[in-house]
Amino acid sequence: MTAAAGKRILLIVGGGIAAYKACELIRLIRKAGMSVRCVLTDGGAQFVTPMTLAALSEQPVHTSLWDLKDEAEMGHIQLSREADLVVVVPATADLLARMAAGIADDLATTLLLATDKPVLAAPAMNVRMWQHAATRRNVERLRADSVTVLDPDEGPMACGEFGPGRLPEPEAILAALQSALKPAFPSSAVEKHISTSLDTNGAIGKHVIVTAGPTHEPIDPVRYIANRSSGKQGFAIAEALVRRGARVTLVSGPVALPTPSGVTRIDVETAGEMAAAVESALPADAAVMVAAVADWRVEPSASKIKKRGSTPELSLTENPDILAGLCGHAQRPKLVIGFAAETDDVVENARLKRTRKGADWIIANDVSGDVMGGTRNRVHLVTADGVEDWDDMPKEQVAALLADRIADALA
Ligand code: C5P
Repeated sequence: MTAAAGKRILLIVGGGIAAYKACELIRLIRKAGMSVRCVLTDGGAQFVTPMTLAALSEQPVHTSLWDLKDEAEMGHIQLSREADLVVVVPATADLLARMAAGIADDLATTLLLATDKPVLAAPAMNVRMWQHAATRRNVERLRADSVTVLDPDEGPMACGEFGPGRLPEPEAILAALQSALKPAFPSSAVEKHISTSLDTNGAIGKHVIVTAGPTHEPIDPVRYIANRSSGKQGFAIAEALVRRGARVTLVSGPVALPTPSGVTRIDVETAGEMAAAVESALPADAAVMVAAVADWRVEPSASKIKKRGSTPELSLTENPDILAGLCGHAQRPKLVIGFAAETDDVVENARLKRTRKGADWIIANDVSGDVMGGTRNRVHLVTADGVEDWDDMPKEQVAALLADRIADALA
């Protein structure tokens, strides 16, 4: 059983081919000990039937605002409030647009407007629809309104195109949903009350610094040294920590990711800038150094280096080790966690790295596959007590598990 066991989910199934994945999500939600009641939009009913959802959820399925029997048994306002969390899967471009505009012209959008519970939306649509300025605006609006809008996965799509727009895998939606059920970021006025009433969650009110993404080390005004880090794992950790009530400063290298709501983000480009930003964010209770910091930099040329038929010599200088520096800092956070991206002897190298750098924990991962830039991760948690091998799972789920462990360690 998970911490979310016993919670009630109101699942709105929208009109897209990914609606079939909502069926798998229902199974996972129930397996995690939660109950789920479904609302099917007219569009959703083109892809899955009320009978399928009713059979999987073992609950009545709601389809219309104008159903006299439904209204007599449970009015739509009550339906929207009875749940602990409202989840929209798949959130189509149209559904996101109507949510952002506050339109209530069917049962799903009426419930979304009437609810007093947190809302999580998992988008799925054609890549161009996702990238359209109108959808970007709507997603930004919804996030500003505290709706958790997940980023879609990238890959081949049912329409034949490739890019971001695929529904996140049901396991990733489940992890995000479990995160969303944890207490939200508390305001300072309620922080004290919450930290005493929920003493099982040690992350509440704690300050955690997270670094994420690559760093770019300029060679000249147009060229730089970089690596394949996407920032996804670090951003997911920052988001999971905020969900547990932590105050998170996210120091990010150049990435194309939206800021998780509630996170304070500092954008940097180089390792030197990242080191300075981490230092300025102190004091902190914990630090999770996920960034793939470039090991070397060059003295950048002020003007673009010309080819001129010869190969320029690049003289490399080692960058400061931000993690090791933090471990030896006078204001060292109580818990310092490093990441170790390795291709060989993954665990052994991580063990050595932990002691060499002075970190409390190292999360080791094998990056010989497509982990860097990908959506899944298989990690090993290396601590003074030994090594734990975690299953291969979506990065959001790694983040959720790690955030739970950090909360426990800070309690
Ligand atoms: O030595 P290596 O780069 O493998 O160590 C990885 C860990 O150290 C990560 O946690 C990374 O964020 C951190 N690191 C750092 N500064 C560097 C290099 C790595 O903070 N210059």
